[in-house]
Amino acid sequence: MMMNVPEFKKYKEDNKKITMVTCYDASFARVLSQSEIDVVLVGDSSAMVMHGFDSTIHADPDLISAHVSAVARGSRQSGKETKFIVADMPFLSTRLGLEKAVQTAGQFLKSGAHAVKIEGLKGNQEIIHHLVESGVPVMGHLGLTPQFVNAFGGMKVQAKTAEEQDVLFQEAVAFEKLGAFSLVLECIPAEIATKISKRLTIPTIGIGAGVGCDGQVLVLQDLLGFNPDFKPKFLRRYANGFEVFQSAFAQFNQDVKSGAYPSEEKSY
Ligand code: KIV
Repeated sequence: MMMNVPEFKKYKEDNKKITMVTCYDASFARVLSQSEIDVVLVGDSSAMVMHGFDSTIHADPDLISAHVSAVARGSRQSGKETKFIVADMPFLSTRLGLEKAVQTAGQFLKSGAHAVKIEGLKGNQEIIHHLVESGVPVMGHLGLTPQFVNAFGGMKVQAKTAEEQDVLFQEAVAFEKLGAFSLVLECIPAEIATKISKRLTIPTIGIGAGVGCDGQVLVLQDLLGFNPDFKPKFLRRYANGFEVFQSAFAQFNQDVKSGAYPSEEKSY
């Protein structure tokens, strides 16, 4: 059964953890559509994972929209939607005025998303409230918000001091008050993530934020082990994707060069 917005709270009430995985293309969306994963995030990490940029600030609405359309098509099974899809509002897309933000969110929902995710609270309050009031469900994102990589001076664990944790806590509460239906907490100490998760009635979805969150999210290619050099402390790989594909390519190459492929039964 496909998840919906009211169910996010219900999962939390029932102590049922939420799983979210990023996805950017139709073929992986098809695989995910036949999995138990609850939510699919078309993250602005697509700029890095799919397009090779070194940060997410290179994502723009058209790029996200193209990935949302592909994921939405791939996740349809027998003509029916299978997954709740969240689209990232990319760098500066909430900073060009209310009208532009509404247009971008509308573009994503028309492309097949069911909600948008917004990084950071400060300066976004009016837009968050307006989108929620307009029928666009909003997922918040606090802590290490990658669109702030330049302001943070790199990708570092956030909210290490008591003062920073106070601000983070207040911002999390504010996201809920503005109507967000869930909140991503990225790379923050587990203790403050747990405190926030206990205080909010909406679920928190953590990445590098410890086990006290109400769900967990990972970038699909990290989860599958496509980049052996990416080893943040929080990451657990559930497959050796890099090695698995390398060995398939090696086998294909060898078979073609040796004449073992295509064999007679693979020929017309
Ligand atoms: O863009 C993304 O992949 C994200 C997740 C890491 C939460 O925002």
